[in-house]
Amino acid sequence: WPQLAPLVAEINRLKIDRDAVILAHNYMRPEIFHCVADITGDSLALAQKAVEATASVIVMAGVHFMAETAKVLNPDKVVLMPDLQAGCSLAEAITADDVRRLKAEHPGLPVVVYVNTSAEVKAEADVCCTSGNAVQVVESICAEWGVDRCLLLPDRYLAENIAAQTRYGIISFPGACEVHELYTPEDIADIRDSFGDDLVVIAHPECPRPVVEAADFAGSTAQMIDFIRDQSPARVLLVTECSMGENLMASAPQTEFIRACNMCPHMKRITLEKIRDSLLTLDPQITVDPAIAHKARLSVDRMLACGR
Ligand code: 13P
Ligand code: SF4
Repeated sequence: WPQLAPLVAEINRLKIDRDAVILAHNYMRPEIFHCVADITGDSLALAQKAVEATASVIVMAGVHFMAETAKVLNPDKVVLMPDLQAGCSLAEAITADDVRRLKAEHPGLPVVVYVNTSAEVKAEADVCCTSGNAVQVVESICAEWGVDRCLLLPDRYLAENIAAQTRYGIISFPGACEVHELYTPEDIADIRDSFGDDLVVIAHPECPRPVVEAADFAGSTAQMIDFIRDQSPARVLLVTECSMGENLMASAPQTEFIRACNMCPHMKRITLEKIRDSLLTLDPQITVDPAIAHKARLSVDRMLACGR
């Protein structure tokens, strides 16, 4: 991408001038992922790295809830979100009022919320989770509370996929990821028919249960990367957002990535130009009401204490 070189150089200079670090989710465009990101990862890794950040400015190359989580963990730092409109259908699926109502309907049960939620929703929860640690979080909070089930909100499909991996009961909510809910087991069967037996299918647990059942492996975006690094499959279908395969091609030249994917319009709102502009103007900045941030932080810290 020679035409991008001046912009990349400008961003990398601005990072030094502003004492900024760029945290980029695995779904970022390749030019962001490879050329300007300091740290890349899944939602869990980005939260972990946000805690460790020493720079005075954090640029979140991801979606709004990720920037909010970084701010909750770093109330004294400037957290830049290059496009405030970069949302998430899961975060928009549930409000703090919904959580309060569900708590009243299920007294005595712990509330686990997916990290893909607003700070207000996290503030009402007992603990957060990501797709990378949901089983550990559910099992640890149920054991701690001495109960046999918990609420896991708001992704109905993640809830079903986690329920299949634990003896604890899961009460869910009808939210869904607009990208992953589109996949069907028939899509996978058709692609397997075209590509033969050596095709390894890896799905994100935000996919409907029959899709995960039709896959060979399911995990968070970081777990997908680890799987490909460890197993070196010859041919892979990644049942997730399109940039994953593009970003992995460089580090997994032995693997052929089959192109059949859905794009997240929210992740794709983040561009090099918007990152440059946010570093130039130190805007838009994420703010979180301190009382909400304090309560949300407890939920995030409990999750981080559970580990991966
Ligand atoms: P990961 O936590 O697996 O990176 O997923 C985040 C996300 O938004 C998936 O759609
Ligand atoms: Fe949200 Fe789905 Fe986009 Fe992830 S891929 S940010 S869950 S809409």
